[in-house]
Amino acid sequence: MPHPVITDLQQRYTCKKYDPSKKVSKEDLEVLLESLRLTASSINSQPWRFIVLESDEAKERMYRTFEQKYHFNQALIRDASHVILFAHNPHYSREDYERVIEQFVADGRISPEDREKAFRSFMFAQMNTDDNGDTSIWTKNQLYIALGNALHTLARMEIDSTALEGIDVPLVEKEFARELNGYKCEVALAIGYRHADDPNAKLPKSRLSGEGMVLRV
Ligand SMILES: Cc1cc2nc3c(=O)[nH]c(=O)nc-3n(C[C@H](O)[C@H](O)[C@H](O)COP(=O)(O)O)c2cc1C
Repeated sequence: MPHPVITDLQQRYTCKKYDPSKKVSKEDLEVLLESLRLTASSINSQPWRFIVLESDEAKERMYRTFEQKYHFNQALIRDASHVILFAHNPHYSREDYERVIEQFVADGRISPEDREKAFRSFMFAQMNTDDNGDTSIWTKNQLYIALGNALHTLARMEIDSTALEGIDVPLVEKEFARELNGYKCEVALAIGYRHADDPNAKLPKSRLSGEGMVLRV
């Protein structure tokens, strides 16, 4: 019997056709959102924002952003139960980290007197900030940890999903400018339940053997 973690990862797959009549329950969605909130990140920076498209109107707005590019992903947006825009803060600042530190105090991780000491970790953000104050490479790395976490959480709940880098970034950022509020969205996640004739569901899992990938020393 494989370990349950391995079973989750073997059974999850990229859904290519959703059953539009099946919706992810409110309760399951809350579990997913809580798993996103609990995602680990460098210095606990949490430089992300998740925009959940649940209304038909919001999904229609996203659907329209596929008019010029990535048509092959468009039907997923229409038929999936929900689409989540994964966004990161491209200018992570000391003020952003201050919120994290205040939460450390509120959660009893540090005493109020140790606030300044806690700011020492901000060095990691500074090291990853370019001359224009751009932190995108670093903050996007953190965001992808949340994406990986979501894929496994959904597998555990037997909810199907599709990670989507095939989105028209300028159009998405224009359409959802208000919700993104300066954050960048370069990846989305469709979730729902597979259609009975999703061709991808029947394919065997395929991965490199691991030879040369894992070195034990
Ligand atoms: C970051 C990321 C972006 C992806 N973008 C797309 C996409 O735009 N459209 C799509 O159909 N699949 C997309 N995929 C799915 C991958 O092709 C898929 O995960 C990979 O082939 C492994 O197959 P599996 O997920 O079925 O195990 C993406 C996956 C990841 C992790």
